Parts: sequence; structure tokens; C-alpha cells
Amino acid sequence: LKEQVTEKLDQINSLENLDELRIAILGKKGELTSIMKEMGNIAAEKRAEFGKAANEVKEKIMENFDIKLAALKTRIKEEKMKTEVLDITLPGKKQNVGTLHPITQTMGMLRGIFLEMGFDVMDGPEIEQTYYNFDALNFPKDHPSRDLQDSFYIEDDLLLRTHTSPMQIRYMLEKKPPFRMVSLGKVYRSDYDITHTPMFHQMEGLMIGEDVSFANFKALLTSMVRRLFGEDRAVRFRPHFFPFTEPSAEMDVECGVCHGKGCRSCKNTGWLEILGSGMVDPNVLKEVGIDPTKYQGFAFGMGMERVAMLKFGIDDIRAYYENDVRFLDQFK
Ligand code: PHE
Repeated sequence: LKEQVTEKLDQINSLENLDELRIAILGKKGELTSIMKEMGNIAAEKRAEFGKAANEVKEKIMENFDIKLAALKTRIKEEKMKTEVLDITLPGKKQNVGTLHPITQTMGMLRGIFLEMGFDVMDGPEIEQTYYNFDALNFPKDHPSRDLQDSFYIEDDLLLRTHTSPMQIRYMLEKKPPFRMVSLGKVYRSDYDITHTPMFHQMEGLMIGEDVSFANFKALLTSMVRRLFGEDRAVRFRPHFFPFTEPSAEMDVECGVCHGKGCRSCKNTGWLEILGSGMVDPNVLKEVGIDPTKYQGFAFGMGMERVAMLKFGIDDIRAYYENDVRFLDQFK
């Protein structure tokens, strides 16, 4: 039987046939199985010898089946490799790759521009003491932005920072002038409409030296705007007031959403305000131990959402934080 099986195995060349043979030999009604069943009819003294021989045959046969199975599988695989052709003209499967949020992209661009111009970058806390957020910045005790309605308080002397300007104080307390630094991060105000969200991002800038002028400031910002939006984008400064700068100004950029013509996001003026700025108030310098008769300089606070609106032509600031993938997918 062993030889017969070996012979039959040699002729088999498909998995189905191999299976049929296995059943014919080793199955419930298979040849070998019925031989084993005969055992009961054999004389007791010969039974042990017979059983041993039968088991050896069975093992050998099973081993041969396994070898054949492995050989068949390898052959099938080889044939498949030979006949299957890779069609490189078929379209590939599309991988859905995520993107950096437009605000993250904008902050990255600005950080890069200011690093190139020799500015330090400093990070600071979003939960801030009222001292850094207001007092040290020369805010009067009864200033409206200290109001609970405009600011998110955590405790009496602790709030979510309403701007990145406290970073001016933190930086100046650590470093000796001359210096220039920027600080980028989240700020919080109780406000919500097409140009305001309760959380938004600012970039604070500060430059102090013996002869840092407002002219230097205008030149710096004009070149920044050109880097961001191209050579022909107009900017304008408007006088303003901040407790911590004197004089103060706001800067507008020609609105990219409506190309200077007028739309919702620029309140139909053709301009979008992107930052507040001014020459650092002598009171602030005194507060951090810098001599205002020797040093002067400028500071500015820029809204990242506004810059990104101009850069990408977005007309509703709230779209940034609605997490609509159709919106986010556009910034690849
Ligand atoms: N902190 C001001 C704001 O949030 C902007 C500003 C920064 C103004 C620095 C002057 C100087 O509106």
C-alpha cells in the first residue's frame, strides 16, 4: 500500500486531487483505515506486531502527503508569479493624508520670517496672572477689557490671557536690551461673530534698543506683508489707543477676500485690520526695570486668523473651528 500511495502521489498535480486521494486512503472509509479496523480479527499474539507496522506505514504515508502538499503549493505560487503581470498603468489607491491647519501653517510662516530677521521666539502660559495681562501693561484698574464680560476669569487674579502682550513683560523681566522677540499662541475673549471667535491666535512682537524708531517698525511690517502677500499688497496705519503703547496704531491690509473692493469680512471697507501696535509706553519699561531715557522700541500684536483670512481668501473666521473636512481639505 505504501508503494502504491507513493506512486499515486507522484502523479497528482492539483490540490483537489491530493485531497481526494487523502480521503481514499486516510478517510473514515479509506483503505488504510479499513486495514486498521481489521486489527480486531487478528490473533492476540500477532496484534502488537501488526499494529506497530500499520502505524509506521500510516505515519510514512501522512508525511508523504505533507511533502506533496508543500511542493504543490510552491509550484502554484511560482506559476502565479510567472503569469500575473503588474499593470503599472492602473490608478493607485488614494491615501487620505491629513494637513496642517491653516492657522498652524500661517504661524509657521510667520515664525520663519521673524527667525530669519533675527528675532527670538518665546512661549508662555495661556492661563495668566492679571498682573502680566493687565497691571504691568499699564491698564487702569477700571479698564473695560478687565470686565468679566470680555475676559474669561478662573480666579480673581487668574484668567485666560486676552492677548499675547503679557509675553512682553515676561520677556523683558528676563533679558537685557537690546533685543527682539516674537511669541505666538492662543488667546481668549468673550466674543463671537464673523470676525471674532472666543479663542484665537496672536503673534506678539517686541523690539527694544537705544534707537529703535517707529520708522523701523513700519519698514519691518511692510516687508513682512510683502513676504506674506506679495509685492503689491497695500497697507495703512490708523492712529489708535493702547494703555501699553504711546503713540499707538492699528495696521490694515488691503482685503484679499474681495481684493480691496468691499465684502463682509472687511465690513465693506476694502481693508482688514490685522494688528495693533505702537511705541512701548515708558511706564511699561519702568515697570520691568528698563530705563526709558536710554531705551525705546515698538511692540505689536497680530491676529493669526486675520492673516490667514487674507492669505487664503477666507471670509468667515468661524470656519477655522467648525472642523468641516471639506473646508480643511483645501489647505493641502
Ligand atoms: N495686545 C493688543 C491687542 O490684543 C495688540 C497690541 C500689541 C497693541 C502690542 C500694541 C502693542 O489688541
